[in-house]
Amino acid sequence: MDNPNERFVRETEVITTQLVLPNDTNQLGNLLGGTLMHWIDIAAAIAAQRATGRVCVTASVDELNFHQPVRLGDVVTLCASVNRVFTTSMEVGVLVTAQTMDGKPARRANNAYLTFVAIDGEGRPVRISQVIPETEEERRRYEDALRRRELRLQHRRTK
Ligand SMILES: CC(C)(COP(=O)(O)OP(=O)(O)OC[C@H]1O[C@@H](n2cnc3c(N)ncnc32)[C@H](O)[C@@H]1OP(=O)(O)O)[C@@H](O)C(=O)NCCC(=O)NCCS
Repeated sequence: MDNPNERFVRETEVITTQLVLPNDTNQLGNLLGGTLMHWIDIAAAIAAQRATGRVCVTASVDELNFHQPVRLGDVVTLCASVNRVFTTSMEVGVLVTAQTMDGKPARRANNAYLTFVAIDGEGRPVRISQVIPETEEERRRYEDALRRRELRLQHRRTK
């Protein structure tokens, strides 16, 4: 690695676990979407800041789909890592799984892609160093991130 500011994708990884408590749920005992979005945003922000060593702000969140309900008492695990750095922005991927306490396998509850921008003390975007993918999975995410960015930029231009 020539640039000392570059990080391996694995160095940006964040794994957080939450227990779904009554205050996190609706009247049916399902996890509130807004609470899950908050947890996703925090995990992703930490990954972005690990990648850059800077304060990073959320620029956008791609479409979020809630595949199946997460229930009161479930254990929710969020895995976040930086997929690719562009110039001042980067894509962070977050995979959310939920598990009951009775030993059944964890199920995929959600996945999200967020764009974060690294900023300086005045809130201006700053150029950041690339993250280096090492595994096949990381390399696939790195390639896919560029395609998603192109779609995002197209979408912004047509708004
Ligand atoms: C995000 C922010 C810093 C971008 O600043 P800006 O002056 O609009 O910057 P630019 O237009 O030069 O874009 C800077 C980068 O952000 C990216 N970007 C900006 N808006 C974006 C959006 N809606 N979605 C995806 N990427 C976005 C640009 O593509 C560019 O990426 P690149 O440098 O890697 O090519 C600014 O809009 C901001 O401060 N927004 C509020 C952030 C915030 O408060 N978030 C919630 C709390 S953390």
